[in-house]
Amino acid sequence: MAERLTVEVDKKPAYDIVFEASFDALGGELEQFDLKERKICIITDSNVEKLYGACVQSLVAEHCRECVLFSFPAGEESKNLETVQKAYEFLIAHGFDRKDLLLALGGGVVGDLTGFVAATYLRGVAFIQVPTTLLAQVDSSIGGKTGVDFKSYKNMVGAFKMPKLVYMNLSVLKDLDDRQYFAGMAEVLKHGLIKDGAYYEWLIDHFVEIGDREIDIITEMVKRSCIIKKNVVEKDPTEQGERALLNFGHTIGHAIEKQMDFAYLHGECVALGMVCAAYISWKREMLSMEEYYEIRDMFVPFQLPISTYKIDPEKVLEYTKNDKKMDAGKIKFILLKKVGRAVIDTSVTAEEMRNAISEIYYKEEELYD
Ligand SMILES: NC(=O)c1ccc[n+]([C@@H]2O[C@H](COP(=O)([O-])OP(=O)(O)OC[C@H]3O[C@@H](n4cnc5c(N)ncnc54)[C@H](O)[C@@H]3O)[C@@H](O)[C@H]2O)c1
Ligand SMILES: [Zn+2]
Repeated sequence: MAERLTVEVDKKPAYDIVFEASFDALGGELEQFDLKERKICIITDSNVEKLYGACVQSLVAEHCRECVLFSFPAGEESKNLETVQKAYEFLIAHGFDRKDLLLALGGGVVGDLTGFVAATYLRGVAFIQVPTTLLAQVDSSIGGKTGVDFKSYKNMVGAFKMPKLVYMNLSVLKDLDDRQYFAGMAEVLKHGLIKDGAYYEWLIDHFVEIGDREIDIITEMVKRSCIIKKNVVEKDPTEQGERALLNFGHTIGHAIEKQMDFAYLHGECVALGMVCAAYISWKREMLSMEEYYEIRDMFVPFQLPISTYKIDPEKVLEYTKNDKKMDAGKIKFILLKKVGRAVIDTSVTAEEMRNAISEIYYKEEELYD
């Protein structure tokens, strides 16, 4: 399988995704941008800085005039305009101009925030993604969606801004804690479910190796997921149609995330949301009962939840109405026609969603029965 993929925008090559087992080749990749007279600012968070900050900074420094590092406290709480402002201040203080470059080193929070800074600082500077979580490698670093949260609204302010390069060091995935790693698996399983039944079966067949993070297997997995994400965003870069399929599990998933005030990780909420969406697909006789139960139960070996007592079902339903993926007031819900084939549907009713949410909900007392 290819060691690199080229992502096209408007049918023209726009940027490469490079798959490596270390950071060693990053310097060589930077050579294509002719940075001898340019500065690079690495933007990262406090956790990732401790793990790879010094190593990446010294590697990059050899390929540009100056390399500085800006770090902010890890966590979604930092993904806001205040941190963006601090980044602008840092760039101004270090004299960054339009030809200098930003490098996002971290998970989706770092990538989204850095991309937004890159889209807006001096009306736009170039940036590179070096994603270090599974979620960032298979999802957020590809496709050019950037942004930050505003007040209690997630990703409310943002821009489309394509990176110049996505450099993946797959060996960093071994440093992730289990919960973060498996939360990323929700998006991986989603890719199989919406686009590629054979890939989904492959994931199920390899759940032990994937759980053990065997490097060959997870390299193949990340590549296959990147191919799916690339194909979808190439067809629909600004989310007019096809890209909505990536939202499978996200209408109810986002509502759960918000109702639980982010106590569950994004991927965990998406797994619950996918169970709901598969349930509605079964009830509409698009999936068989066996297919529904298999989809549901196959999240378990990947340490993802398939039911919860922690939600308030009516509130979750209420929050689905705030879904950003609305089209003239109608929710664009993603259903499965079969494993590997998702479709957009704007006719899903509140009652169908209520039934689906009650399928994943049980009362706390039932825990002790
Ligand atoms: N732009 C998009 O298309 C898109 C798509 C999906 C999600 N997102 C966004 O991505 C964000 C979530 O990303 P995330 O799950 O990567 O969260 P994150 O960036 O907060 O990373 C999770 C945690 O892992 C730590 N970490 C990162 N790399 C590590 C490593 N190699 N080893 C150990 N720890 C490491 C981080 O410091 C953080 O504490 C959300 O803000 C979401 O909105 C964006
Ligand atoms: Zn997601």
